[in-house]
Amino acid sequence: MFNPTPSRLAQPALLPDYDRPFGLPAFNSVEDAIRSYDGDDAIYVLYPKRIEAAARMFLSGFPGKSIYAVKANPHPAVLKTLWATGMRGFDVASIREIDQVRAACPDAELYLMHPVKSRRTIRHAYEAGVRHFAFDCAAELGKILVETNDAADLHLHLRLALPVGGSASMPLEGKYGATYRDAVDLLRAARPVAAKLGVCFHVGSQCMDPADYIRALSYVHGLLETADIQINSLDCGGGFPVAYPGLTPPPMQAYFNRIQKGLKMFGFENLEIIGEPGRALCGEGGSTLARVELRKGQDLYLNEGSYGSLFDAAQCGWKYPVKLHRPGEVSEQNEGFRFFGPTCDSLDKMAGPFQLPADTREGDWIEICHLGAYGQALATNFNGFQSEATVAVIG
Ligand SMILES: Cc1ncc(COP(=O)(O)O)c(C=O)c1O
Repeated sequence: MFNPTPSRLAQPALLPDYDRPFGLPAFNSVEDAIRSYDGDDAIYVLYPKRIEAAARMFLSGFPGKSIYAVKANPHPAVLKTLWATGMRGFDVASIREIDQVRAACPDAELYLMHPVKSRRTIRHAYEAGVRHFAFDCAAELGKILVETNDAADLHLHLRLALPVGGSASMPLEGKYGATYRDAVDLLRAARPVAAKLGVCFHVGSQCMDPADYIRALSYVHGLLETADIQINSLDCGGGFPVAYPGLTPPPMQAYFNRIQKGLKMFGFENLEIIGEPGRALCGEGGSTLARVELRKGQDLYLNEGSYGSLFDAAQCGWKYPVKLHRPGEVSEQNEGFRFFGPTCDSLDKMAGPFQLPADTREGDWIEICHLGAYGQALATNFNGFQSEATVAVIG
């Protein structure tokens, strides 16, 4: 039996190392994990083999170096699984992410790709061996140079704002990125102070059309011609999608092929090419097991909600794939259900509808699948409901 301490306050944010494979209690099946559980919270499940498979796909198929965007899921078991599979680069955004990666994979190459960082973060990063820094304006470039004492070994990445109108389900425009005109000036300003200089962009998360990457590469091509500056690297960012009901993307190979084609078309083949997948590496490699505490008609009240791992199910209306786990008979007929989370906030609801057996009832466990990215990573302790239970399912 495992029964993690229910209070997070006296505990570190992540589970202690159980000295098991992947540092987690490991089970052959989800049913085994549920049977062994003696806690009251939701259970986060990681499927290391699926994460491994996704990593292999990028390591062999992406036309450049893949680095993992840690924000998608910073769990040490995810970091260690990726490292063991051959992933060597990690995109980090904060001091905590730097320390989490250093603790799990001490020899990893870290890329601090957040365009706005505190001065302390820049100093901490440089001391921790980070040499890759993103910036999108002159003030941030200045901060990086001052806080690293004008280091001679910086690889600087200019984050570009792309023209709006991509196919991403979660557009990232409007917050970061230099405009075309500013980018020209910034490339000229950064070239003399950078040991290596690159540009980076993000087409938006859950990009549904591989052609968005070609459009971004075409934009970069025009920009570099105007600036007349030689760069060393080109970072195509994240955005690579995962399949969710109602959001079925083309196969990943189509994205790799389009990028490859764009690199050739615009003469970028001799640059160091980087990709920063987050969602695509761990989205299908994790799920949440939530228990039904009460049923009212077609409304299921769960021990997990939008302040837990279901933020995107609530805010973006995403209908994750669901499965019922109950020993014994289950109705063969499905019906649509709404989910409510455990907190007192009435925003804590997930409209779905989620298709589940018609006789779903109190005590049933529902597996909400494809939640390995931006699921557990977004969970808060609001109302005391943050779960400490993470398990690996190996089968
Ligand atoms: C700088 C940067 N790189 C990579 C990612 C990962 O994106 P995705 O999970 O869509 O692959 C993000 C996500 O916000 C990001 O901000």
